[in-house]
Amino acid sequence: MPDRPSVADPVADRATAGFVARYAATPDGRWAAPGRVNLIGEHTDYNDGFVLPFALPQHTVVAASRVDRPHWTIWSEHTDAVVTFDEAGLAPGAVTGWAAYVAGVVWALREAGHDVPGARLAIASDVPLGAGLSSSAALESAVLTALADLGGLDLPVDDRPRLAQRAENEYVGAPTGIMDQSASIRCRPGHALFLDCRSLDVEQIPFDLAAEGLAVVVIDTRAEHRHVDGEYAARRKSCESAAGALGVAALRDISPEGLDAALDRLPDEVTRRRVRHVVTENQRVLDTVELLRSGRIREIGPLLTASHASMRDDFEITVAEVDTAVEAALTAGAYGARMTGGGFGGCVLALADAGFADAVAAAVTRAYGERGFTRPRSFTVLPAAGAN
Ligand code: ADP
Ligand code: GAL
Repeated sequence: MPDRPSVADPVADRATAGFVARYAATPDGRWAAPGRVNLIGEHTDYNDGFVLPFALPQHTVVAASRVDRPHWTIWSEHTDAVVTFDEAGLAPGAVTGWAAYVAGVVWALREAGHDVPGARLAIASDVPLGAGLSSSAALESAVLTALADLGGLDLPVDDRPRLAQRAENEYVGAPTGIMDQSASIRCRPGHALFLDCRSLDVEQIPFDLAAEGLAVVVIDTRAEHRHVDGEYAARRKSCESAAGALGVAALRDISPEGLDAALDRLPDEVTRRRVRHVVTENQRVLDTVELLRSGRIREIGPLLTASHASMRDDFEITVAEVDTAVEAALTAGAYGARMTGGGFGGCVLALADAGFADAVAAAVTRAYGERGFTRPRSFTVLPAAGAN
């Protein structure tokens, strides 16, 4: 079995050590899948629109071995708990908590007709959990990659994100789109993933920050996001009913040119704002891709910042900590900054000259101090590899 992460990798080492300690054997192999940030294109995925995420260097590693019956034993360093389940105890709802992300993958693969091997798994990760950087998609994608290899499953890479999404939607019960699992599985180093969420066609867009002397600073705003699941579902519902009222399959089908006419046909101001966000955000993704294709990375800054304003004013998914981080990053000289992910907290990203990255992070920390917010955590990232 191939041992995928080939360079020095402390996360993989922890997964192996956890496996050996738990199961008193060496694993058959190790598989990794990253967290993600979304450069631009927020709440567009479930509207059949466009997104542009890239993979983080932080990843989740699964050390695993096959067993000869349909039974799964899982351990994660984060909980330090062992959970077991077998095929009889695999119906949605049977396995709960963090283990549901793993059981959900086994369930989704079986629902799709795959002969999933029983396995013992040990999981380690340096993706921050619950910070909007898709630790859950990283976990699902790493487990899926491990099981596909262990079982020799006939499962083309391009089909994998849908299965991992099914685990999240139908097993865990979170009504999310296809972006996170696509990013974790299909991203490439040095590139952002331009994904059409309707056709699932992708284009790898060069995003070589290092060559340009640039950095993306990720700021974990540490805002306590209450009601996030309910608000996400409410935004999604509002978009779907607006599409219904406009007689289109999804808001993707409203063009920027047709926006004003569409808004005139909508019943209330809140729905009009939601629709305006999605339609303008799709266009901002296309404009960002155009600039990146011609190597004009710095020029995407205003599009990032405009995306943030749209999330703040039209989609209404930001909170005070997030807005403070964006403003402070811009004041400190970032080319652009925006919240990334589902909203109501999570992370902000800022595009800056590499030499300014520390100043951007320090400015955010200072602004937080002035407002009495919990100290944020910041780090810089370069686009990394998808699942392997
Ligand atoms: P995000 O995906 O943005 O990090 P979510 O709230 O969607 O946030 O998912 C976080 C949840 O995923 C955690 O609370 C935990 O249940 C589960 N999870 C993710 N990674 C791991 C891991 N390595 N070990 C155990 N559970 C994990
Ligand atoms: C995430 C969700 C994605 C996407 C994003 C907003 O939390 O998992 O599918 O909708 O929010 O762009």
